Amino acid sequence: MKVAVTGANGLLGGEAVDLLLGRHEVLALGRGPSRLPPGPFTWADADLGDGRSVARALADFGAQAVLHAGAMTDVDACERDPEAAWRVNASGTEQVARACRELRARLVAVSTDYVFDGRAGPYREDDLPNPRGAYARTKRVGEEAALLLAPDSAVARVAVVYSGRPGAKGTFATQIVEKLSRGEPVRAFEDQFVSPTLARNGAAMALELLLGTDYRGVLHVSGATVLDRVEFARRLAERFGLRGDVVPVRTADAGLLAPRPLRGGLLVERASSLLREKPLAVDAALDRFFEEWSRRPGGKGS
Ligand SMILES: NC(=O)c1ccc[n+]([C@@H]2O[C@H](COP(=O)([O-])OP(=O)(O)OC[C@H]3O[C@@H](n4cnc5c(N)ncnc54)[C@H](OP(=O)(O)O)[C@@H]3O)[C@@H](O)[C@H]2O)c1
Repeated sequence: MKVAVTGANGLLGGEAVDLLLGRHEVLALGRGPSRLPPGPFTWADADLGDGRSVARALADFGAQAVLHAGAMTDVDACERDPEAAWRVNASGTEQVARACRELRARLVAVSTDYVFDGRAGPYREDDLPNPRGAYARTKRVGEEAALLLAPDSAVARVAVVYSGRPGAKGTFATQIVEKLSRGEPVRAFEDQFVSPTLARNGAAMALELLLGTDYRGVLHVSGATVLDRVEFARRLAERFGLRGDVVPVRTADAGLLAPRPLRGGLLVERASSLLREKPLAVDAALDRFFEEWSRRPGGKGS
């Protein structure tokens, strides 16, 4: 099958490309050159901010299924530049959805727990979104664009994505390991409840949703455990055998530009019963993260 992945240089998209290789014909899309290890895929440099270039690349390839994982994911940058956030997250997703309709391709658009306001999480798929801030609002619009414009589509929501894969971008999880390894204390929000998602697990679930089901609508494909960031940092430290201080801080004291959902997190019962690839509980995910990290040059963790 001809499968395309947007955001292929990203945490989730990179894992998706890796999972597809050797099984399908793969078009990987990103802005600028590929940062993926070389492999049997075609690369397209296409800017989601000019969605037509992405649509053209999908059409030239003749995509039959599309995992749309590209997005402007820096929440505060979105807040500073809502115009850019709209172009990439809302209009970019609209163009991807329109292209899928033209091509009669199945679409899974990746989205976020940030579509909820975080007053009463964790949330089920049927709970009513109430996005706060430019990132959240543009992602929510992207969800509607995907579901409305592409007849065969689903939205896969994840949260706090992390990966230990060599070359993957830094995240909260990798910073915790790096700082504690250097003997530095780490700060973590004690009042943000989240469902951390190991990128490979989230990507595998999103791909199964795309290629192995005809499910339409929203599906939560995050990790299975909801916990606050202090607890997540402590579990990470424990798994890596790292000592050191995890200092609890409050979100309101951090002076962040964009609002953060506090009582967030996603409930994943539906994915657990629908998919063969199951949402991982945090300790199982951290075991895999540790293995990924151990494959990094000099990355033994302790
Ligand atoms: N990361 C999280 O914690 C998180 C949480 C909840 C939901 N999500 C959602 O999960 C999906 C995957 O994100 P991720 O975790 O893999 O984050 P990521 O690593 O930031 O990946 C996003 C990718 O999109 C690419 N991109 C950004 N602007 C673009 C543009 N104008 N044109 C083309 N590509 C562009 C980025 O390119 P560069 O690599 O060149 O920057 C990056 O490779 C997104 O839909 C995101 O909203 C992520």
